Amino acid sequence: MTLDPAMLYGKRLRLLVTGAGGMLGRAVVEAARQRGHDVFAATRAELDVTAEAAVRAAMLEWRPDAVVNCAAYTDVDGAERDRAAADAVNHLAAGRVADAAAEVGARIVHVSTDYVFDGSKREPWVESDPVAPLGVYGETKLAGERLVAAANPAHVIARTAWLFGTGGRNFVDTMLALGAERDEVSVVTDQIGCPTWTGHLASALVELAERPQATGIHHLAGAGQCSWNELALEIFERAGIDCRVLPATSDQFVRPARRPAYSVLGSERRDRIVLPPWQRGLAQYLAARVAVS
Ligand SMILES: NC(=O)c1ccc[n+]([C@@H]2O[C@H](COP(=O)([O-])OP(=O)(O)OC[C@H]3O[C@@H](n4cnc5c(N)ncnc54)[C@H](OP(=O)(O)O)[C@@H]3O)[C@@H](O)[C@H]2O)c1
Repeated sequence: MTLDPAMLYGKRLRLLVTGAGGMLGRAVVEAARQRGHDVFAATRAELDVTAEAAVRAAMLEWRPDAVVNCAAYTDVDGAERDRAAADAVNHLAAGRVADAAAEVGARIVHVSTDYVFDGSKREPWVESDPVAPLGVYGETKLAGERLVAAANPAHVIARTAWLFGTGGRNFVDTMLALGAERDEVSVVTDQIGCPTWTGHLASALVELAERPQATGIHHLAGAGQCSWNELALEIFERAGIDCRVLPATSDQFVRPARRPAYSVLGSERRDRIVLPPWQRGLAQYLAARVAVS
């Protein structure tokens, strides 16, 4: 169903979505079009956010009311080897996109991550909690948050976590592939987070773009929490796959970047948007996969 935003907010928006070819970007484009907005879906090939002149030209040509910045360097382990590449997109380019948006009077909804936290709490992280990234990816995303906030007063920083959805590498697809060829898999029990379907997140991001007064940091992730091990169990059960899920710990899978042990996102905001439970997001994603196969 296509909603008429004019009925809800009095305005059909012109939205620029960067990183529109990515897993989240394509969901944002779809959600925004479903809500009746005019969307300029800029993939990396169409708009490289590190190219400052191109970013400014796109803003001047398109004149968006709001920008949803989904462009990012998302290879968490790769960032440990190539800080400059991660920094160029997640930090410097994010700031320039926000600045160029401000020049044409556009708000910016910038997507960030649970990896700005060190995972040391045992209850959900809220927006004002102290940040302390464990790795380069989180550091560059945090630097980006700060630059965006400084460059454009009309900013929303939307921190999210553990994404799965169509058109990107994600844990759900990996487990479905492994479950089809193996009798058992070992999955860590000592990392807890909020699995989040890009479809649910995308609707919330568009809603934030629609709110003229929305500003500051917003935590947006699937409601509830689980370990990767529990998520794997739920995937196999819902998909009807007969594959045992064995418990493992993170020290059995040494990777270049450390991950936070507990990165569940909560919100202390009165104007918070609560996403549906992660199990519902998983069910919707699995149904969408079946529908296209
Ligand atoms: N995935 C998660 O679990 C997760 C968790 C928390 C937060 N996030 C955040 O969510 C946002 C979206 O991530 P995602 O999962 O959708 O990742 P993704 O699928 O990797 O999407 C990122 C997109 O940005 C594009 N991009 C990279 N460099 C660019 C550049 N210089 N100019 C323009 N576009 C560029 C990528 O293009 P190429 O594919 O061509 O490189 C890709 O299409 C990011 O801000 C990420 O930090 C993700």
